[in-house]
Amino acid sequence: MQDETNKGGGLIRGRFDEGLDDVMAKINASIGFDRRMASQDIDGSVAHVTMLNAQKIISVEDADAIKAGLTTIREEIASGRFTYSVELEDIHMNVEARLGELIGAAAGRLHTARSRNDQVATSFRLWVRDAHDRALELVRTLIEVLVEQAAQNAGTIMPGYTHLQSAQPVSFGHHLMAYVEMFGRDHGRLSDARTRMNESPLGAAALAGTSFPIDRDLTADLLDFARPMRNSLDAVSDRDFAIEYLSAAALCMTHLSRLAEEIVLWMSPQFGFITMSDRWTTGSSIMPQKRNPDAAELVRGKTGRVHGSLTGLLGVMKALPLTFSKDMQEDKEQTFDAADTLELCLKAMIGMLRDLRPKPEAMLAAAGSAHSTATDLADWLVRELGLPFREAHHITGRLVRLADEHGSDLAGLSLQDMHSVDARITDAVFTVLGVEDSVVSRRSYGGTSPECVAREAEQWRARIEEFRAG
Ligand code: ARG
Repeated sequence: MQDETNKGGGLIRGRFDEGLDDVMAKINASIGFDRRMASQDIDGSVAHVTMLNAQKIISVEDADAIKAGLTTIREEIASGRFTYSVELEDIHMNVEARLGELIGAAAGRLHTARSRNDQVATSFRLWVRDAHDRALELVRTLIEVLVEQAAQNAGTIMPGYTHLQSAQPVSFGHHLMAYVEMFGRDHGRLSDARTRMNESPLGAAALAGTSFPIDRDLTADLLDFARPMRNSLDAVSDRDFAIEYLSAAALCMTHLSRLAEEIVLWMSPQFGFITMSDRWTTGSSIMPQKRNPDAAELVRGKTGRVHGSLTGLLGVMKALPLTFSKDMQEDKEQTFDAADTLELCLKAMIGMLRDLRPKPEAMLAAAGSAHSTATDLADWLVRELGLPFREAHHITGRLVRLADEHGSDLAGLSLQDMHSVDARITDAVFTVLGVEDSVVSRRSYGGTSPECVAREAEQWRARIEEFRAG
């Protein structure tokens, strides 16, 4: 008999005489990255062997020996003593081969009524489920930090922008609460996806199910899946769960990137709205005065990677016939990279938001520029003089032009100046021209008044509690 190990992947090459070409071995192996699923692979095997024994498919002695061997392997991996072999291709065969070394022939019974196809589908699904859980917790923490900054800054006034031009004054807290809404939707998407993906592929075997009397409900239960997947072909060929995770991650990164971009703007000397401490900023190698928000820029930059992972996996899957094809091995690296990136960026954003301090005077000064209360003036003309809004808009436009000619803001015009445009205006108009008046007056549902912001912050605190309670 030939030395099995020289044939590459000795476990499954009974019909082959020659070993793999070096390039074939290189393109074929996934152990370089799928070792990250070692713990999930062992969890799947423990559930499977428990079920095999419960169904009397294997003896209790063999089952116990397999479980003890798997426990040893788990420890070897955790302590860095496990030797991975590229010849053994992937984590599944590395673990099984080591089990053989540890316990002998009984190891060969573990793979009864199972294929690597349902095995990898199970391991990867468990890994992606964990990634959902980590992201969900980080998103909750991010929301909490935003809510606390918002509550503290309900009355901090800044310019609200459209087209990046000062439009109407808003509460800085209200601005932050807009991101709470976005990340709240991300939380919803991740938790919906988690619910949908929480079904067990184990027991689909290669693709068609098995003639052994397995109990798929038991393995599903042991692995905390809600139920077994209903169709064996779908079970081994579905990667929707990774795609849904990546799409939720991609959109969450888009939100992080928008917030990162605002942090970059606010930190710039031209805006000067916030400061961040030494812990979250870097200097320049040549310009001693610089304090750069590199973490925010990197969050913005890393967004492209996660978007790339999503389109990458959509591309891998789009023309695959049922069921398993080796293409699907390409599902992992980009999913792992996206999860690492998302988690790092969420942590960086949490850190920056805890660190950043608004500069309320600078925000207020900017909020009062560029006739930002012009809409309040127009609204006053409608409310107090009964004018149609379009006419009020026109009159306000003329007053803005007059103020520009005088080099003043709207509040700097005299009543006499105003009368040159419309004689019906009274000096009560001056009560709506201040930026604080403007913000306080916007009490409509979802509006920017400090009162609304404080109420929203309170409600979100309760909602986060509910999220945590599940
Ligand atoms: N390494 C493979 C993967 O990552 C495991 C599944 C292999 N199955 C097979 N029939 N070749 O997808």
